[in-house]
Amino acid sequence: MRRPTRVRLVEVGPRDGLQNEAEILEPALKLRLIEDLAAAGLPAVEAGSFVSPRWVPQMAASAEIYQRLHRRPGTAYPALVPNDTGLEAALAAGVEEVAVFIAASEGFSRKNIACSVAESLERVAPVIGRARARGLRVRGYVSCVVACPYDGAVDPARVAELAAWLVAQGCYEVSLGDTIGVGTADAVRRLIARVAEAIPRQRIAMHFHDTYGQGVANILASLDEGIAVFDSSVAGLGGCPYARGATGNVATEDVLHLLHGLGIETGVDALAVARAGAWISARLNRPNGSRAGRALLAATACSASPETQN
Ligand code: HMG
Ligand code: MG
Repeated sequence: MRRPTRVRLVEVGPRDGLQNEAEILEPALKLRLIEDLAAAGLPAVEAGSFVSPRWVPQMAASAEIYQRLHRRPGTAYPALVPNDTGLEAALAAGVEEVAVFIAASEGFSRKNIACSVAESLERVAPVIGRARARGLRVRGYVSCVVACPYDGAVDPARVAELAAWLVAQGCYEVSLGDTIGVGTADAVRRLIARVAEAIPRQRIAMHFHDTYGQGVANILASLDEGIAVFDSSVAGLGGCPYARGATGNVATEDVLHLLHGLGIETGVDALAVARAGAWISARLNRPNGSRAGRALLAATACSASPETQN
């Protein structure tokens, strides 16, 4: 399979990244992060979620974020919605694209959204229908596509079935989430090959968490399987509060270093993303989780310092 020559990155740091942070960030800081990432050229920035504030307190201000956001033409700002309540709140806040989320395992579904997988499909189907009827684009997520923190290994056939269901309901793309970051390259290749029997490869996006440091390797494996859309998080922020032990998504800066090194176009300014990553890491008082981001900033500082100039 030929690798794509252009990749679309979906930046999930302001949602998947920040949802796991204990300190509630003020909306102005989130807005700066979202707007800086969009200005760096990222074509999609997931900016919040309309979930229960009791379940994820960090996302409680999502309505305010969307109301105050200065949108760039051509940039998408999807928001997660779990149910009708969330969809209505998202619509009221001016959201133009939503993402629904289901899981490939029962254990995670119950921990994350308090219902079985079958119940979640019943809940989500009308949400997709109503969102589309109101003119919104709808993306779908399937979580725990490799393994579940509660139930163990997941069958790729089950993932394929759920991905096909989301597309049949009207999702334009399905993002396959390795929620706990346990996937390795061959498992990822097998998974994609199996899902591609059920839906076209152009409708598959991959969403890797980097718990075991395999995110970039898994993206290379996915590229070789013809996948051209990836979710990533600036500075490797994040983790899911309902997936024990999961760390952040693969860092956007690391993915950009891989893609640009392979000559694959993204339209994204890697240095601008690295600056945003350093800024938000400092603001959260946590180490910057992107090695490429740290290296790029160090190299830039060196080349700009007086000692290195003739
Ligand atoms: P529940 O407690 O079963 O909900 O939670 P309920 O329908 O029984 O309602 C209980 C209360 O919540 C009611 O309020 C509702 O109004 C309210 P009360 O009458 O008690 O005052 N409520 C809401 N409030 C605001 N927004 C809403 C909403 N819905 C109900 N949308 C529910 C069910 C789905 C709401 C809850 O479990 C939930 O919010 N879960 C979301 C958890 C979450 O956000 N997880 C992280 C995102 S998924 C993820 O990170 C994975 C991903 O990155 C991919 C990957 O890595 O695999 C996408
Ligand atoms: Mg995730």
